[in-house]
Amino acid sequence: GKSGYDHYMLKEINEQPRALRQCLRARVDELGSSVDIDTVGDLSPSGLQFVACGTSYHAALYGARLFEQAGIPARAYLASEYATSPPPIGDDLVVGITQSGETADTLSALREAKRRGAETLAVTNTVGSTATRECDHALYIRSGPEIGVAATKTFAGQLAALNLFALATAEDSQTRRSVIPALRDLPGDIQSVLDNSTAAEIAEQYADAESFFFIGRRYQYPVALEGALKLKEISYEHAEGFAAGELKHGPLALVTDQTPVFALVVGDGEIARKTVGNIKEVEARDAPVVAVTDGQSDAELYADHVLEIPETHPRAAALLTNVQLQLVAYHVANNLGRPIDKPRNLAKSVTVE
Ligand code: M6R
Repeated sequence: GKSGYDHYMLKEINEQPRALRQCLRARVDELGSSVDIDTVGDLSPSGLQFVACGTSYHAALYGARLFEQAGIPARAYLASEYATSPPPIGDDLVVGITQSGETADTLSALREAKRRGAETLAVTNTVGSTATRECDHALYIRSGPEIGVAATKTFAGQLAALNLFALATAEDSQTRRSVIPALRDLPGDIQSVLDNSTAAEIAEQYADAESFFFIGRRYQYPVALEGALKLKEISYEHAEGFAAGELKHGPLALVTDQTPVFALVVGDGEIARKTVGNIKEVEARDAPVVAVTDGQSDAELYADHVLEIPETHPRAAALLTNVQLQLVAYHVANNLGRPIDKPRNLAKSVTVE
C-alpha cells in the first residue's frame, strides 16, 4: 500500500534514502577505496554506447558524462534512434539502462548491438527481466518495486549504480576516494532535502504558469531534462529542460514573466559561474528564477526563490537537485488535481516500439 502517503509517487520519492542504502550495501567499503559489483567490475570497455528511453535516457546521458570524464569514449543514444549509430568496435560495451527491463525500444537496440557483435550490459531494477536474460551482464540498481508511472527512486538508483560502474571499471583510486564518501552520504543528504524542502510552496505559487524551464550544465544537464519530463508527465503542463549554455541560442526568446526558470547551480567554479550568468539573462526578461543550489556560488543573489541542497561532490549533487525537482513536479501536479500515479496516455512499462 501507500503507507500513509497520498500517492505512490510521493512514497517512492521518500523511499530514496533507503533505496540508495540498498543499492550501495556491500558494494562500497567504509574507507571509500574500493567498489565491488561482482563480475561487472571486471569489464574494461574501450568505449561505451548507452541505450535507453525517457528517464532512463537521462541516466544514460549522466553515465556517458562519467566515462567521458574518465577519458573513455561514451555516448548516450535514445534506444529508438540507435539504428543509425556507428557499429561498436573492439571492446566497446553496449549498456541498456531500463528500470523495467521490458521496454521494447531498449530491448530492440540491445538486440541490434548483439547482432553487431557487441557485449551487452543491462542496468536494471528487475531481476529475471527480458533485458537481464538477453544481455551478457546485469547490474542491479536494487531500488525496490516502483508503482508510480513516474520514475523517481529508480532514476536515483540508476545514477548511483552508474557511479559504481564507472568507479569500478574506469576510474583511479583518487577519484574513488573522493566519490565513494559522497555516495555513502547520499541517503542522509537526500533525507535532509526531503525534510527541509520548500518545493511545495514554490509549486503552489507557480502552478498556473504558462511554461516551466529547467537549466543546468555538466551533471546537472540530464537533471534539467529529467525535471522537465517529470513535470510534463504528471502535471500536463508545458516544460522544457535545456543545457544552460543553449538558452541564448534560441529558447531565451520564449522567456517572459510567465515562465519560471529552475536553475541548477552546484559548487563555486567555472560551471556555476556560467550558469549564474544564464540566471542573469533570464532575470533581465523578468522570469521568476528558482535556484536549486548548494549555496556555494552567488546564485541566490539573483534568484527569487532558493531550493537548497547540502554541499557534496558534483556527481552526487545531481541526485539531490533531482529530489527537489521531483518534489516540484509532484506538488505542481497535486495543486492542479492531476491523477499523479496514473497519468493519461502513459504506461509504466512501454512494450511496443
Ligand atoms: O523501464 P524503463 O526504464 O526502460 O522505462 C523507460 C521509460 O519509459 C520511462 O523512464 C518513462 O520515461 C517514465 N515514465 C518517466 O517517468
